[in-house]
Amino acid sequence: MADTDALAGLTATSFHRGNVAEDASADTAGQVFVLDMQESLPGVLRLRDWAMAALDPQPGETAVDVGSGTGAEVRRLAAAVGESGRAIGIEPHAGLRAVATERSSGTGATYLDAEATDLPFEDASVDVVRCERVFQHLTDPAGAVGEFARVLRPGGRLVVIDSDWGTAVQTPGDPELLRRLWDFRDSQSPNPHAGRHLPGQLVRTGLTVDPDVAATAVVPPPGALLVLVQKSLEDARAAGVVTQAECDQLVDEIRAAQDAGQAFMAVTMFAVLGRV
Ligand SMILES: C[S@@+](CC[C@H](N)C(=O)[O-])C[C@H]1O[C@@H](n2cnc3c(N)ncnc32)[C@H](O)[C@@H]1O
Repeated sequence: MADTDALAGLTATSFHRGNVAEDASADTAGQVFVLDMQESLPGVLRLRDWAMAALDPQPGETAVDVGSGTGAEVRRLAAAVGESGRAIGIEPHAGLRAVATERSSGTGATYLDAEATDLPFEDASVDVVRCERVFQHLTDPAGAVGEFARVLRPGGRLVVIDSDWGTAVQTPGDPELLRRLWDFRDSQSPNPHAGRHLPGQLVRTGLTVDPDVAATAVVPPPGALLVLVQKSLEDARAAGVVTQAECDQLVDEIRAAQDAGQAFMAVTMFAVLGRV
């Protein structure tokens, strides 16, 4: 895989709103690297295709991607709604917004600085909302769904996509040690089990939820496991959750498995369609 140095210091919590620095330039390269890697994964692409088909954006419509990152799906929405429509990415991270804007030159995609819980749109003014891998970072996911429902007009469609870290699997690693590590990782996240809560959250907001909930296994490249777990391993050791000896052993096991092409980790990501 490409140079993974940009990942150093990034953890699952790096995309939380509270960790988005005012001067975001320092961490932008690492975040772009992670997002580009994630959107090259076949499982992620399959779910994105499912979401686009479910949302079915039409020429002339207004389509919004909340937490749009580097903007790949805003550009797809822009192509679908055409020049008579609007495709807008909501992205509070200034560095990611700048990258998305640069990558979208010559397309109809535009970007705004706003929060999922406070969108800059009138009531019932939007046809399509999508939101991918953002809910796990939100302290008020129900507030975000309420805001999406507020801006959607009758006939509007919403797809929310997110992982559920309670479904993570990995080899190698002693199961008891991994359990301690993952419990610690989840304790650092506002909404680690975002995926399982999506259908209920949409139902409670009054949306009609399609029974076809889509799911995919997100499987990082085999050579990426060590760099993906290293920072959270260090954090867990600093917090006294694991010992140095346990860290060293797990790192050795992962390195050996990676060298043999046998390391594996996966987490399930769900996509839910709601209609107004
Ligand atoms: C893991 S990234 C996913 C980016 C993009 N949706 C994708 O699938 O590639 C999470 C994104 O959510 C954004 N984000 C974090 N908190 C947010 C909030 N409160 N409102 C809107 N976006 C938020 C982050 O800046 C980041 O771009």
